[in-house]
Amino acid sequence: MIRTMEQRDLAQCGAVYAQAFPVEHWGIDWTAENATEYLRDFYEQKRFVGYVYEESGEVAGCLFALCKLCGSQKELWINEMAVLPGRQGQGIGKQLLDAAKAYSRENGLAGIVLYTSRFAPAAKFYESNGFQLSEGTICMYFG
Ligand SMILES: CC(C)(COP(=O)(O)OP(=O)(O)OC[C@H]1O[C@@H](n2cnc3c(N)ncnc32)[C@H](O)[C@@H]1OP(=O)(O)O)[C@@H](O)C(=O)NCCC(=O)NCCS
Repeated sequence: MIRTMEQRDLAQCGAVYAQAFPVEHWGIDWTAENATEYLRDFYEQKRFVGYVYEESGEVAGCLFALCKLCGSQKELWINEMAVLPGRQGQGIGKQLLDAAKAYSRENGLAGIVLYTSRFAPAAKFYESNGFQLSEGTICMYFG
């Protein structure tokens, strides 16, 4: 079932995240520990919005978002999403996104924003859940 994230979920979310983003594929050495710290930074933000998919006390998926002010309006920015590799493709991600969409609708938000890699299969997942490419946006990097 989907429910609102609580602080006690963070360690399990870190473990799910580290498994969903393996170093062989993403080139980043996530561990359950450093992923938990990374995700804690989102959790501690004032307007944090988060959901977990839990089954028999185990977290199998999580969504980390922030409700950001945008002038007089608000938008939901999804920072991270991850589903345990063995549970991917079973609709858990869709249920997590549906929870975010319900939050956006119920709170009268202007929309939902997220970044993902052009080369990751997740783009297809977001498209099939109604997200569209934001044509006017580019991502820049220095380093
Ligand atoms: C992306 C992710 C959150 C989606 O959650 P999910 O529970 O697998 O998604 P759902 O079961 O609701 O939807 C599955 C659909 O998403 C797409 N998809 C998602 N991940 C995919 C993957 N790794 N390989 C292939 N297709 C994938 C497919 O189009 C699939 O459609 P199908 O069921 O018709 O094949 C999850 O797969 C995941 O954690 N992936 C690894 C980490 C990641 O990419 N996170 C998002 C980065 S912003």
